[in-house]
Amino acid sequence: MGKKTKKLKEEARLRRKMTKLWERGQSDLCEVRGSSIHGRGVYATEDIPAGTKVIEYIGELIDKEESERRAWAQHAKAEETGDAAVYIFTLDKRWDIDGNVPWNTARLINHSCDPNCEAWVEGKRIFIHSLRDIAKGEELGFDYGFDIDCYEDHPCRCGSEKCVGFIVSQEQWDELRKRLAEAETPVEA
Ligand SMILES: C[S@@+](CC[C@H](N)C(=O)[O-])C[C@H]1O[C@@H](n2cnc3c(N)ncnc32)[C@H](O)[C@@H]1O
Ligand SMILES: [Zn+2]
Repeated sequence: MGKKTKKLKEEARLRRKMTKLWERGQSDLCEVRGSSIHGRGVYATEDIPAGTKVIEYIGELIDKEESERRAWAQHAKAEETGDAAVYIFTLDKRWDIDGNVPWNTARLINHSCDPNCEAWVEGKRIFIHSLRDIAKGEELGFDYGFDIDCYEDHPCRCGSEKCVGFIVSQEQWDELRKRLAEAETPVEA
């Protein structure tokens, strides 16, 4: 096989791979639109019953060492630019998924304090499932599960009645409320 034919074949193979990845990152049940919460968000294109597998959260499979390296790099970038987006999901003890790839539509799902979706790990894959019935046109949201540390850096604009004001894992809401109450209490002279 000539060098040129080999190159063309390789290009075609890569194109097929990209198309497959792109298709895997899409879902008929949702689409990307501008969001009132932040930047772009993902919206239901039809009524979605509770317990539906809505879209796959795809990304690059990375080991913990690489994951830590990327987390630090993202943290450093966030300090510099204020852009605190985190896309790394834990799969198991050895592996994580970095969803920061353009074909991962689900990376654009915003955080909500009253989420209608949840991310479930299935083997080495992650899927976004609906937690309740979602009406066509509703924005999808899940709990980012951010740690309470540096909560001030992540104000929440989800707009739900249950909003606690910051993007913090629901598991740490009690602690967050305590800290917010303390911050409000005037110090006596
Ligand atoms: C993974 S991105 C989600 C997509 C994002 N809206 C965009 O257009 O790129 C995560 C970032 O979106 C923003 N974000 C997501 N949910 C938010 C919320 N409830 N309130 C405020 N900002 C939010 C934060 O800046 C967060 O770091
Ligand atoms: Zn909120």
